[in-house]
Amino acid sequence: MQVIQSLSAWKELRPQLTGALGLIPTMGALHEGHLALMRRAREENEIAVLWIFVNPKQFAEDADFGSYPRVMEEDLRLAGECGMDYVLAPGAREVYPEDFQTYVEVEQLSQPLEGAHRAGHFRGVATVVAKMLCLTQPQRAYFGQKDAQQTLVVKRMVEDLGMLTEIVVCPTVRDQDGLALSSRNARLSPRERKAALVLYRALKDVETALRCGERDCEVLRGRMRDILGREPRAEVEYVSIADPNTLAECATVAGPVLASLAVQIGDTRLIDNLQIEPRG
Ligand code: PAF
Repeated sequence: MQVIQSLSAWKELRPQLTGALGLIPTMGALHEGHLALMRRAREENEIAVLWIFVNPKQFAEDADFGSYPRVMEEDLRLAGECGMDYVLAPGAREVYPEDFQTYVEVEQLSQPLEGAHRAGHFRGVATVVAKMLCLTQPQRAYFGQKDAQQTLVVKRMVEDLGMLTEIVVCPTVRDQDGLALSSRNARLSPRERKAALVLYRALKDVETALRCGERDCEVLRGRMRDILGREPRAEVEYVSIADPNTLAECATVAGPVLASLAVQIGDTRLIDNLQIEPRG
């Protein structure tokens, strides 16, 4: 495995590589969710490239960017175990030189949910993903369903700008008790870790209610708020029952829906979602 920190070195190397390249975009602090993406990329491509870059342009708050976990040595060990050929870990100066002035904005899909609570977040994500797709020219790029809105934004961008990469979305990986894996989980105290289970509980309750015939989305959102309200450490940012393609909030359930939520547990902001198919 080769670790490349210089984009100019990578630009020289890329034209010499042949065969399908699979890219796994990450901000490091790798967990089982990332490992699943790496293993899948390893299986499906001749060349597997892990991207590690904590992208300052997608953080609304400096404090959140500053405290994002950075554990490069451990990340490299895991990348090696998953059979990565290259780890691309550029510095911020090279990704965003002083005269950087080009941004990608996916207009509608970036607005609700995460976009409404994290100003400029998806502009930062779309811009850095566009840059890494240009640099690496992958056949496939692998993203987790945990960031459902991100996958929609990236797919829209790829479609709208005529990029040739296939966006592969892999299922959310959860701990045994249901907590969705996230690099941010590392910041939870044991008590907060327990409290954080309320996110999955609220989502599973929506699934059960929906499968029992509840079709009124305001009732479903109310059920999520009730469950979250019973956990004193949880501060709700939003709950949503939306169309899984457009993210428009639904009034009644007529087909598959994306139930999603963002909740602050102590100082840690967590998100999760379930795509639910109503039966019958
Ligand atoms: O999902 C992430 O870790 C980031 O948003 C991504 C896609 C690597 C862009 O910085």
